[in-house]
Amino acid sequence: MASEPLLELRDIEAGYGRAALVLRGLTVRVPPASVVCLVGPNGAGKSTVLKVASGMLAPRSGRILLEGTDITGRRPQQMPAAGLTHVLQGHSVFPEMTVGENVLLGAYAVRDKARTAERVEFVKDLFPVVAQRWDALAGALSGGQQKQVEFARSLMVSPRVVLLDEPSMGLDPKATETVFAQVARMREAGTAVLLVEQNARRALQTADLGCVLDLGRVHLSGPAAELLADDRLGELYLGTRRASTS
Ligand SMILES: Nc1ncnc2c1ncn2[C@@H]1O[C@H](COP(=O)(O)OP(=O)(O)OP(=O)(O)O)[C@@H](O)[C@H]1O
Ligand SMILES: [Mg+2]
Repeated sequence: MASEPLLELRDIEAGYGRAALVLRGLTVRVPPASVVCLVGPNGAGKSTVLKVASGMLAPRSGRILLEGTDITGRRPQQMPAAGLTHVLQGHSVFPEMTVGENVLLGAYAVRDKARTAERVEFVKDLFPVVAQRWDALAGALSGGQQKQVEFARSLMVSPRVVLLDEPSMGLDPKATETVFAQVARMREAGTAVLLVEQNARRALQTADLGCVLDLGRVHLSGPAAELLADDRLGELYLGTRRASTS
């Protein structure tokens, strides 16, 4: 067994209200300072995995462990201080606030002013648009630029792990490349990333490990490079089969 995971979702069953379970005995492990990518079709439960990990949705059974500590049942607002942040699918900047105000919201759990100032410098370096547009209204930025503001906000607490839900959604190819380069830099800086992506092949090129979700379970998992070479990825996820079999 490899080194202890930084984040582990163990045997998770979860669903919404009285509806049928969405996750049915799912286990995902994120090693320290690694990028783990979840892929799978629409509705497979990828965002639900992240919501369970960040406390937005309580699992019906199973456990969530962060650095070996059981954090199952903690509230979402307790998670940043515990070392876990979540960038939601879609856009969630406050458009009427400045870029800087949006970023500083991410530091509400940081009491130390010097530490906050240090992190501001760190995120400005990592996300140049954040530095350049610090005083602009966030709503005036493009979608890709707003995503950078969200990333910056999520890194203000120096998290051990960041959950990123479809960070490249709606971005042009150049902005998408920027996002993946930044994911790699988060890992270099020691932050693990649990990444959900529709852009499966591109994401697996950046990830260390991949998990293919299907019907609320991990159907296939392993080193990202091996998944990329595995025909079953195409069959399961893209619904494509070799021409000779169709
Ligand atoms: N807030 C909610 N209330 C009720 N059901 C929900 C809710 N959010 C998601 N679901 C259901 O849970 C299932 C999994 O949804 P989820 O958002 O996790 O999928 P996903 O893999 O992230 O899909 P996508 O690729 O479209 O983002 C779907 O059947 C969906 O209808
Ligand atoms: Mg989703």
